[in-house]
Order: sequence, then structure tokens, then C-alpha cells
Amino acid sequence: MFSEDHNRYYLLQQHQRRSCLIDKKTLLILICVILPVTLFCTTYMILFGIYEKLSYPKSSIYGFNSDEMIHKNVHRAVLYSNYKYSQNYSDIPDNSYLDEHSINEFKLICYYNFPSDSNDLQVKDIDPFLCTHINVAFGTVQNNSIYLDSDQIGYLRNITKLKEVNKQLKILLSIGGSGNGNGYPEMVKNHTNRKMFIQSILSYVKLYNLDGIDLDWEFPVQYPNGDKKQKMHFTQLLIEIRENIARQKKYAYLLTLAVAATSTIADMSYDVSYINDYVDYINLMSYDYHFYTSLTPFTGINAPLYSGSNEKYYMATLNINYSSHYWNFMGMDKSKIVIGLPTYGHSYRLRNARNHDIYAPASGYGKLGTYGFASYTEICNFLQTNHITPVFDMENFSPYASKYYEWISFEDEQSLTYKAEFIKNHNFGGAMVYCLNTDDYTGICKMGKNGGSNFPLIKTIKNVLGDKEL
Ligand SMILES: *[C@@H]1O[C@H](CO)[C@@H](O)[C@H](O)[C@H]1NC(C)=O
Ligand SMILES: *[C@@H]1O[C@H](CO)[C@@H](O)[C@H](O)[C@H]1NC(C)=O
Ligand SMILES: *[C@@H]1O[C@H](CO)[C@@H](O)[C@H](O)[C@H]1NC(C)=O
Ligand SMILES: *[C@@H]1O[C@H](CO)[C@@H](O)[C@H](O)[C@H]1NC(C)=O
Ligand SMILES: *[C@@H]1O[C@H](CO)[C@@H](O)[C@H](O)[C@H]1NC(C)=O
Repeated sequence: MFSEDHNRYYLLQQHQRRSCLIDKKTLLILICVILPVTLFCTTYMILFGIYEKLSYPKSSIYGFNSDEMIHKNVHRAVLYSNYKYSQNYSDIPDNSYLDEHSINEFKLICYYNFPSDSNDLQVKDIDPFLCTHINVAFGTVQNNSIYLDSDQIGYLRNITKLKEVNKQLKILLSIGGSGNGNGYPEMVKNHTNRKMFIQSILSYVKLYNLDGIDLDWEFPVQYPNGDKKQKMHFTQLLIEIRENIARQKKYAYLLTLAVAATSTIADMSYDVSYINDYVDYINLMSYDYHFYTSLTPFTGINAPLYSGSNEKYYMATLNINYSSHYWNFMGMDKSKIVIGLPTYGHSYRLRNARNHDIYAPASGYGKLGTYGFASYTEICNFLQTNHITPVFDMENFSPYASKYYEWISFEDEQSLTYKAEFIKNHNFGGAMVYCLNTDDYTGICKMGKNGGSNFPLIKTIKNVLGDKEL
């Protein structure tokens, strides 16, 4: 009995030992082979795999498809984000609510970029009743005169024909754009050069039936080597143009400027209170406040309406509310301040997919768009195909969205409603939109009340400013 029992016990123990041995072997295989493979695959997926699986619309079809134009836009965006505060800007009074609500006609000024190819917005697809003014962009200054190539002249001729459909529509030619001065630095230097330029303005106005000229020098006192006299010379140019306009009877034309929104560039580049006397209005470029650069490697809102509660000092000045009041405080009449609103957004690549707030670390432009500039059509397609619900930030009054490593700041119908209401409630001169080409001009986007119809974003602004039922 005993020995039999003992024997059984012995066998049992052996069996257990063997099964224990097998377990250890399995464990060894697990640790040595399967675990590292799983770890490697997961890491790889997280780093490269999942990120690539996002659906992106075919890029560079909508809006931003000209490399030259992109570089020009990048230039301003970089300038904006690299400037540091040099003064104490905490003392600007807010007189906004003291104004009489006397203006009931707001401008809606839309920039139109010469199309770079047949996929870009064509003249025939522009609604002549959408905007009050169309600024055709951009001519340059060459040899002290306005310069357009022959294709651009063809487009300009066709655009001015829109006035036959909408008799109220005004067409202006915008000269300059972001870049190394585009011929302005040389031209403004002396009276002889400026006189030549003014003569070319007048001949363009007459020849192409223009309603005005928009000067978009980005920016005086920058090139070459920060020539401080440029600020004065620019004011001198405006005085001389105004004198020229005063001499016209049949061909009186509008004189407008596209100006930097940030207080640092405003102080450096413009005699604001003098300019106020000579221009019809200014187009405040109140966008590109935040944008990826190696010096600002964090996410941010393209065109925040107000500052965020965690923003201090200079950062708290990078918003539409601050810039527009600052320009008014420096001497520009409110009715002459036309506030810029973008239809495009900025994309970023996040460092950590799980840190996707505003001011999250970023390592570069996102995949959406070109150099981080993405049209509303691209953004809308991206959100819809990936089923992304954007976050609407109620401090900035702007939406942003993220998926894995992609992060975008953009405008939608809601944000533009708030921003247009701001323009209306504070009695500014109106809204400027950059640009027609980056709105959803084909009506592919199905988001929002105007979704499915063309130019849904600009229509939203128009409806608010025009007090129409949405
Ligand atoms: C700005 O000015 C206010 C009062 O005028 C002062 O309290 C504050 O410390 C100043 N800030 C900076 C950064 O100089
Ligand atoms: C808007 O700007 C004015 C002037 O800088 C400031 O007094 C006001 O507090 C700002 N409004 C908001 C909501 O930040
Ligand atoms: C500008 O002037 C230079 C030298 O006179 C000439 O070579 C060039 O073709 C001119 N450019 C234009 C656009 O007229
Ligand atoms: C201008 O319009 C005409 C007639 O509609 C068209 O044939 C031509 O291609 C257009 N030119 C440009 C540059 O858009
Ligand atoms: C004006 O500047 C140009 C160079 O841009 C120079 O050639 C010309 O002589 C100057 N004219 C006068 C009157 O100083």
C-alpha cells in the first residue's frame, strides 16, 4: 500500500515537474521571442503605422497650389511668430462701446489670387454678388511701375467684367504680398520714383477699369537691412497718391492698404495716425498669429478672437480683439479698420499624439495642406472622412481638431459668425477675407448650415454683416 502510494506520489510529482518545465519553456519563448516582436510592432505602429492610415484628401488640388504663393504666405506667418514683445501693451483703453451705432453698411472685401492652374478657382466661378469688393492679388512693383504678366492681365480683364453683372461691385488690384518688399523699397526712395509709380497706378485704373489700388507692402522697415526711412517714405507715397486722386474727376480711385496686425510690426512700419488721413481704409491681416516655425514649436490658433486665459504679455496680444483696438488706439478710425478673417487653416504635426491641446508641442507642419496651409475644402474632407469631431474653444472662439499626430486650427461657420458679430458690435468697417480660393468654392463640404453650397464660409460672414437670417 505504502509503496504503491509512494510510487503514485512520485509519478505525480514527476508529472508536475515536467509540466512545470514545459511552462518555463513557454515562458522563455514568450519573453525571448513574442514579447519583443509585439513591442516592436506596437512601437512601430504608434510611430509610423497608424498615423499613415489617416485619410487625407488629395492634396494641392484646392486653393493653395502655387508654390510661390505658399512661400509668400509662409514668409508673413514666420515674421509674425518670430517677433517678441518689446513694450508694455497693457494700457489700451477699450472705448468700443462708446461709439454711436451709426454704420449700417459693412464692407466685405475678398482677396482673389490669380489661379495657378485649371483646378484653382476660375473667374467664371466667382459669385459677383458675394463680396462688396474683390482685391485681385498680387501685382508687383518693377522698375517703379506696377507689373503683371500677360496671364494675370487676362484674368484681371475678366474679373472686371463681373461689374457688368453686379454694378455695385468694386475691383481693386493688390500690389505686393508677402516677400522681400516686392519692389517697394527701391520705389519709395525718392519723389521721381514714386511719381512714376503713381502714373502707373493711374494708367492701370484707366486701362482696366479698376476701382482702386490696394498696397500690400510686407513690411516697411524690413528690407534691405531695416531701413528706418521707409516708414516716412511710405507715408509720403500715400500723401502723393491722395493728391493724385484729388486731381481726378472721372477716375477717382480707392486707396487701401493691407497691414500687419501685430503691435510690434505696426509700431515699426507705420505712422498710423498720418496714414489714417490718406487712405480710404486698411485691411488688417489679423491671421497667422500662430503657425509652426522652429522658434514656435507648439500648436496655436490661426486667428483667435480673444486671448486665452493662460496667455500672458506678448502672447495675450496675438488676437483679433487686441490688434483691432490697438490700431484704433494708435489713430486709425474704426470705420476705416476692415478686419481680416481667413478661410484657410494651419496644420501641425504633434510630438505626442496624446497631448493635443492648444500650445501642445509640435515638430513640424501637418500633412494636411502645403507648408501647413490648408484650404477649407481639404480640412472639411479630412474631418468628414476620418469622422473627427472638432473642439470649439470658447476663449478664442475658434475650432481645432486632431487625430493621432495631425493637428489643425481652422475656421468654420460658427467661429466666423462670432468674429463677424464682433466686427458688427464694435462698428468696425467690415470684414476682409483671405481668400476666395481657400473657401470651399465647389460646395463639396457638407458641414454647417451652408454646407453643400459654394463659398459656405464667406456666405456666413456676409449673412451676419448683412443681418440676414442664417
Ligand atoms: C506693464 O505696466 C503695468 C502698469 O502700467 C505694470 O504693472 C506691469 O508690471 C508692466 N508689465 C511689464 C511686463 O513691464
Ligand atoms: C478686447 O481688447 C480690449 C482692448 O485691448 C480690452 O480692454 C478687452 O478686455 C478685450 N476683451 C476681451 C474679451 O479680451
Ligand atoms: C526693368 O529695367 C531693366 C533695365 O532697364 C530692364 O532690363 C527690365 O526688362 C525692366 N523690367 C520690366 C519689367 O520692365
Ligand atoms: C477670359 O474670358 C474669356 C471668355 O469667357 C475666356 O475665353 C478666357 O479664357 C478667359 N481668360 C482668362 C485668363 O481667364
Ligand atoms: C531716385 O532713385 C533712383 C534709384 O532708385 C536713382 O536712379 C535716381 O537718380 C534718383 N533720383 C533722384 C532725383 O534722386
